[in-house]
Amino acid sequence: MTSDHVTIRPYAAGDAAATLRIFERAVTETARSRYSEAQVLAWLGGPRDEAAWHQRRAAAGTVVALVDGEVAGFTDLRDDGYVDMLFVSPDHGRRGIGARLLAQVVETARHDGVPALSTHASEVARPVFERAGFAVVERETVHRGDVTLDRYVMQRPLDVHGSGETA
Ligand SMILES: CC(C)(COP(=O)(O)OP(=O)(O)OC[C@H]1O[C@@H](n2cnc3c(N)ncnc32)[C@H](O)[C@@H]1OP(=O)(O)O)[C@@H](O)C(=O)NCCC(=O)NCCS
Repeated sequence: MTSDHVTIRPYAAGDAAATLRIFERAVTETARSRYSEAQVLAWLGGPRDEAAWHQRRAAAGTVVALVDGEVAGFTDLRDDGYVDMLFVSPDHGRRGIGARLLAQVVETARHDGVPALSTHASEVARPVFERAGFAVVERETVHRGDVTLDRYVMQRPLDVHGSGETA
């Protein structure tokens, strides 16, 4: 399968359980390739309330990627250009869905006249953001209890007029 088979649409109320499950599995399974067991558990934190998760997604400009009608990944875009979430199900990894979601973010931000995008990228996500035109500004170490996690502050200026730049 390639990303040509992916459909992107806005998050809907019925996507709460699927997106929450993807978040949990992407952290504990996919991100485990770059982080220790203790680090992914610290990242995951405690159990999440589905209703509260839904409220945050509904307010965050979340979009979901569908493969054969099933939610396979999601991302979001704050009004100030901050990309807070990018998660793809381990069942659909490395097939361009993360790239497709970021291409959608870039298109939406340009349309809305956002001058620049920013994010805090994980070790796993950094190459995906780089391929979407983001550059590392600095490396940060986050403390969660006794555990530390490295992540990257990344930014991507946008040509809001779209003159020749590719997503
Ligand atoms: C980061 C993520 C969203 C990318 O989704 P995706 O659909 O696999 O992305 P793409 O297919 O566009 O890009 C694939 C690239 O992602 C990275 N990647 C994806 N899965 C990976 C894995 N299991 N181990 C290491 N790198 C991985 C690699 O750089 C890969 O490129 P490669 O296949 O040439 O090595 C997904 O891997 C994920 O959810 N990761 C865990 C959670 C996370 O880190 N989220 C980002 C928070 S900032």
